[in-house]
Amino acid sequence: MVKYSSRPPPSPTLPRTGVVHVSFQTHKERLEKDLLSQKGRSLSSRLEEAIGLAHAINLEVAHSQVIQLHKVTPATLLGKGNVQLLEGIIKGLGITLMIIDHPLTPIQQRNLERAWHCKVIDRTGLIIEIFGDRARTAEGALQVELAALNYQRSRLVRSWTHLERQRGGFGFIGGPGESQLELDRRLIDERIIKIKKGLAQAKRTRGLHRAARQKVPFSLVALVGYTNAGKSTLFNLMTKANVFAENLLFATLDPTMRQVKLPSGRQIILSDTVGFISDLPTQLIAAFRATLEEVCSADLILHIRDLAHPDTDYQAQDVYKVLEELGIVHPIEAGVLVEVYNKVDLLSGEVLENLENRIQRDDNLVGISALKGQGIEKLLECIDRKLGGRKELVHVTVPAYKGEILAWCYRQAIIADRTDDGEIIHLTLNITSEERHKLQDKFGDLLNWQ
Ligand code: GTP
Repeated sequence: MVKYSSRPPPSPTLPRTGVVHVSFQTHKERLEKDLLSQKGRSLSSRLEEAIGLAHAINLEVAHSQVIQLHKVTPATLLGKGNVQLLEGIIKGLGITLMIIDHPLTPIQQRNLERAWHCKVIDRTGLIIEIFGDRARTAEGALQVELAALNYQRSRLVRSWTHLERQRGGFGFIGGPGESQLELDRRLIDERIIKIKKGLAQAKRTRGLHRAARQKVPFSLVALVGYTNAGKSTLFNLMTKANVFAENLLFATLDPTMRQVKLPSGRQIILSDTVGFISDLPTQLIAAFRATLEEVCSADLILHIRDLAHPDTDYQAQDVYKVLEELGIVHPIEAGVLVEVYNKVDLLSGEVLENLENRIQRDDNLVGISALKGQGIEKLLECIDRKLGGRKELVHVTVPAYKGEILAWCYRQAIIADRTDDGEIIHLTLNITSEERHKLQDKFGDLLNWQ
């Protein structure tokens, strides 16, 4: 079992790694793939992404290639010719780890390991490793461990079937009918039950934190975006906090929150979130969603896009797909989303000119370079503008003897409902976050936000 919370420091000798992106051309395979996110994305950029994933856990990539297949070879996924060709490369370059950017069955994984005399992992295994490495809160670490155990469990079940056949149904340890693998499976199941309990507790704690935060009249602004788009870089710039930001995929897993003061004086809570990725392993989808729950309650979503990436439009489609799955339907139409075109420092000529024209015409667009600090004032102004205009219903109780609070609320014409209850008055206010901010500034100590 991999313990993510007590991960040893990375070994100084990095495994020499080979990365193979496998693409299928058969009609069946094409149908099985999700056409929306796959269509048109170039094979070389898919390979680049897989190499980026390997770099994310400090692997040294000595060889990489795309292999296009017309059919699956059940025993090894790749055909005999490719297996042999790669065997030569692996030997020649001294590769000790091969990453196959495609799901492998446990049998295929084992057969390839035997043929190549090196460790073989598939995309799911790799992404689970990365998420484990990047989890920054206890809840995140538990989510990833759960995903890892579910992944491992499915492997154990299937390898067990195979081993049982081979060994005539007897295991090494345990009573009649019990095997080491069944025992392992039982240990895994026990651990899964414990983790689920831990997660339920973590969720309750998060709920409490959220409730506490909602009492503070600050708007929540969430950064979302495809992995490597520049979210952490922007987050750092806006908060000047030392959040982990490197040229690595998934530099963040758990939402990180910081208080930020906008130029107008308005305070917001800025939340950084996990980087989106296409073909997320099913085992990780729950973990991924849990870390994005904050986005659902955000007052404003900043969609950070890497405009210098050749697949920027496909990446955006992936992001919107997830947002829709989270129940945030058409965030642009709902007026809660700003598209932040990042890395403009890497653009030039006509591309940059066209972009600037578009940005001028559309007040839901801002162009920035998070790295160089370019366009940040415009972005902050945009956040202020977006948050300033929108009204929302909030509940607050005020002491009945403080007439000036009521008077102020009536003057601003923000009272939607009022119930008098002896010493206190319950108010439902229809206010902008600016008005809420003013109210808090003036009478903060006497208000009880609900
Ligand atoms: P995940 O955590 O994987 O989701 O990534 P992220 O979206 O948080 O990206 P991060 O901020 O880690 O940036 C990824 C890489 O892009 C880093 O090498 C940054 O230095 C680089 N980067 C970010 N913003 C800019 C930018 O405006 N211009 C340029 N040239 N590079 C940038």
